[in-house]
Amino acid sequence: MSEKHEKQGGETSKTLTLKNKPQANRTADGEKRKRAGARARQVARREWDKDSTPATPARPGTTDQGKRRAGRTHTEANEQAARAHPRAAKASARQARSTEAPSRQAPGGPSHAEGARQRRRAEPSGRAGAAAPRQNDEIVTREVERGGHAIKISRRDTDRQRRRGTATRRSEIHVLFASCPHGLEDALAAELQALGFEDAETSRAGCRFHTNWTGVLRANLYSRLATRILVQVAHGPIRTEDDIFALALDTPWEQWFGPEHTLRVDTSAIRSPMQSLQYCNLRTKDGICDRLREREGARPDIDTVRPDARVHLFLDESTATLYLDSSGESLFKRGWRLDKGEAPLRENLAAGLLALSGWDPARPLMDPFCGSGTILIEAAWIALGVPAGIWRPFGFERLRNHDARHWRDLKDEARSHIATRLETPLMGYDLDPRAVDAAKANLERAWLTPDTIRFETGDARSVVPDTELPGWVVSNPPYGERLPEDTSLWADWSSNLKQHYSGWRINVISSDLDLPKLLRLKPLRRWPLHNGALDCRLFSFDMVQAGYRQR
Ligand SMILES: C[S@@+](CC[C@H](N)C(=O)[O-])C[C@H]1O[C@@H](n2cnc3c(N)ncnc32)[C@H](O)[C@@H]1O
Repeated sequence: MSEKHEKQGGETSKTLTLKNKPQANRTADGEKRKRAGARARQVARREWDKDSTPATPARPGTTDQGKRRAGRTHTEANEQAARAHPRAAKASARQARSTEAPSRQAPGGPSHAEGARQRRRAEPSGRAGAAAPRQNDEIVTREVERGGHAIKISRRDTDRQRRRGTATRRSEIHVLFASCPHGLEDALAAELQALGFEDAETSRAGCRFHTNWTGVLRANLYSRLATRILVQVAHGPIRTEDDIFALALDTPWEQWFGPEHTLRVDTSAIRSPMQSLQYCNLRTKDGICDRLREREGARPDIDTVRPDARVHLFLDESTATLYLDSSGESLFKRGWRLDKGEAPLRENLAAGLLALSGWDPARPLMDPFCGSGTILIEAAWIALGVPAGIWRPFGFERLRNHDARHWRDLKDEARSHIATRLETPLMGYDLDPRAVDAAKANLERAWLTPDTIRFETGDARSVVPDTELPGWVVSNPPYGERLPEDTSLWADWSSNLKQHYSGWRINVISSDLDLPKLLRLKPLRRWPLHNGALDCRLFSFDMVQAGYRQR
């Protein structure tokens, strides 16, 4: 487990993850994956042993006042959000009615945590005191492996739940947060609005919007810029870690997943006064597991590598928000990249560069430092109208009540709009022939024919465009630690651009803020962007033949 502290825009944000490393590539890195799997089993085993003791201990020092502060449920948060978005207000209220915790706490009554415990004692649980099955109820029994043994898990699946599962989920309006790399927020808001999510508005490293479940699926399928589509399931004020536990305990997770699923919880925070994000993460997981164990007789296993369900806890100065991750693996993983080359760009950042550059898909595009071809492959998919998520699996497919037929219909509809021919010239060059091979292999895996993009070995300092119309250069040359020692690269590339790229728009991402000086070009615009942890700029230059201002 690790806590990461990142400095962003003068503020410190912390991210906690139970996973130390990104998931290992399953085919190319089998050995690492085996180790990751072993570690996941170890963690799961520890979790299981720990949770065999029934009671979750309260943390010393928890005040009643703190517990009371947690009394605002996800329902109230939804109502607040609905007020901010009048168009969605009616539907949000509907969602609130259907997902609200049993009762809201009157001032002076028992605390949120205590209230939740009382309610659970009064409610029929999955184990002791379970209400007798009614007609048409179905006892769904599954065998699940726990600590080396197979155990049976039973869940009463009522008629009402089954009907509600598919029908209500589609009509409920959810509060969504689409995360994205820092700097792409405006571009993401524009993309979401163009996809029909009209109320999309920018937030820190992402956008908020409201939509129904079909919209959640569409956002996952079509967004090229989002990293994850998170469904807000609870929000409330908190003062202590016990309030986080109570919030998690009061959230109807059983609508989405149960003991038959594996779970992973991630925590991130901005300006949170909490001492340990790791402990907050643990309390969230405890709240989720206690609820499911009481209702369904068992709890989900923890799997940090390939979980079925992912929950994100976000903390700020005084509130906690719980999100169900509908995406699963990050959305920049489109499913085509195996060959990474050197310092590859994430696919959603590549799509973001194209969006910010204003590239017109009917005009030529060149990447003279193409590496494994990310920018050009994203461009080909944009020009052909291939939805970003068409070839990949999503987290929502593994959740309860997934309507596979509806999802298939949405994908069929999306496929019917893909163009079969690409007229736009797309060209990529790299000095390293291995990078060019990687780009060609990626092109094939992206279901594109070899003639879609021309990938060739070439030197940016000498390659010249052979298109009738001027176009766009969008590129991610070496920078930071990867900058070649040969400092003449920028001067030589710049002379090539000035000589042969008249009328072209040159867009370059770099962490070197002096790049315009090195190229002796005055940027039209510079967009602040994050490439992973690197603080970068996308510089945009217009190449005009005469009278171009040189420094
Ligand atoms: C940061 S990487 C590009 C990564 C790429 N965007 C991707 O997603 O895979 C920079 C690339 O520039 C290439 N390169 C360095 N000097 C070059 C030059 N003079 N001409 C062409 N390519 C060059 C390197 O071989 C490397 O593949």
